[in-house]
Amino acid sequence: TELVFSGVQPTGNLHLGNYLGAIKRFVEMQQRDAQCLYCVVDLHAITMWQDPQALKGQIREVTAAFLAAGIDPKRSIVFNQSQVPQHAELAWIFNCVARLGWLNRMTQFKDKAGKDRENASIGLYDYPVLMAADILAYRATHVPVGEDQKQHLELTRDIAQKFNNDFAQSILAHGHGEQFFPQTEPLIGGPAARVMSLRDGTKKMSKSDPSEYSRIALTDDADAIAQKVRKAKTDPEPLPSETAGLAGRPEADNLVGIFAALRGITRDEVLKDFGGAQFSSFKPALVDLAVETLAPIGAEMKRLVADPAYIDSVLADGAGRAEAIAAPTLDAVKDIVGFVRRG
Ligand code: AQP
Repeated sequence: TELVFSGVQPTGNLHLGNYLGAIKRFVEMQQRDAQCLYCVVDLHAITMWQDPQALKGQIREVTAAFLAAGIDPKRSIVFNQSQVPQHAELAWIFNCVARLGWLNRMTQFKDKAGKDRENASIGLYDYPVLMAADILAYRATHVPVGEDQKQHLELTRDIAQKFNNDFAQSILAHGHGEQFFPQTEPLIGGPAARVMSLRDGTKKMSKSDPSEYSRIALTDDADAIAQKVRKAKTDPEPLPSETAGLAGRPEADNLVGIFAALRGITRDEVLKDFGGAQFSSFKPALVDLAVETLAPIGAEMKRLVADPAYIDSVLADGAGRAEAIAAPTLDAVKDIVGFVRRG
């Protein structure tokens, strides 16, 4: 059976890339006959310093975004990572499975640590190992994520495989099949797997970009969306009539990709309608579509955030259900590793 896991960091500034690359696809996964777990990954968030008062608000805001986008907290398990201790526990065991050389190859660490690498937190370096623990504590089979997470998902598969090999005899001796941890499938794709900055089509749309104009926030109102799209960088050519014509035109490619993802169609289908059009006519159509999609989500987020007691009750319920799946996995892992257990 399928088990879907994914997470979003409560680091503020949730944007259209997070929505189209991840959250919208979380909602779609609910239609499949699978158990879905959607996690607000606060342990990941603190790998970069977070103001404690702000962090609480950010955790509730991501939860609100999940619910406002259409995740049903009865059908899916919506929870906060730090409320389920098995994530951190399994991460430690995986720290002893993963190899230094593997982590040294992670490009996200290099990007986020920047030049002052000596001063980055150990947690930031260890981020991908915690992510493997998030996924494998539930032995998740499918993980919908944006393109930027591809390398981390490959590491998750390497860790699962090394654990299965390192402990092969013990796994069998404890009555488990050879594949104690599955080879998780990343689900990356669609026209918005990598939404780019509105100011620079070669840079990922990101929460930490200092320019507000680089991203559309999930809570932006119609005016803000219109202004940001109007100012979005473009080139002087009209839109091509097929996708091949977007090559070498990163900003045009990005706006067409966003349009396609919002409408749930392909780039080629967008260009059937807009091939030959100038940005002066394409941009207003994009604004209408973005406002139509995001306005109800933003409004519902605001309504939900105003009721923190409700949000907290959703998270508490989710944590209980998540722990009921993760705890038996950790029990088995501790037996497999050879720990003496409390009777
Ligand atoms: N630009 C993007 N396009 C498509 N998907 C994206 N995701 C993030 N940015 C884009 C996907 O959103 C999910 C949650 O991301 P995250 O909160 O874990 O962290 P992040 O990748 O660090 O987000 P940002 O916005 O990129 O923040 P900074 O500025 O800190 O780098 C993931 O599935 C991610 O792939």
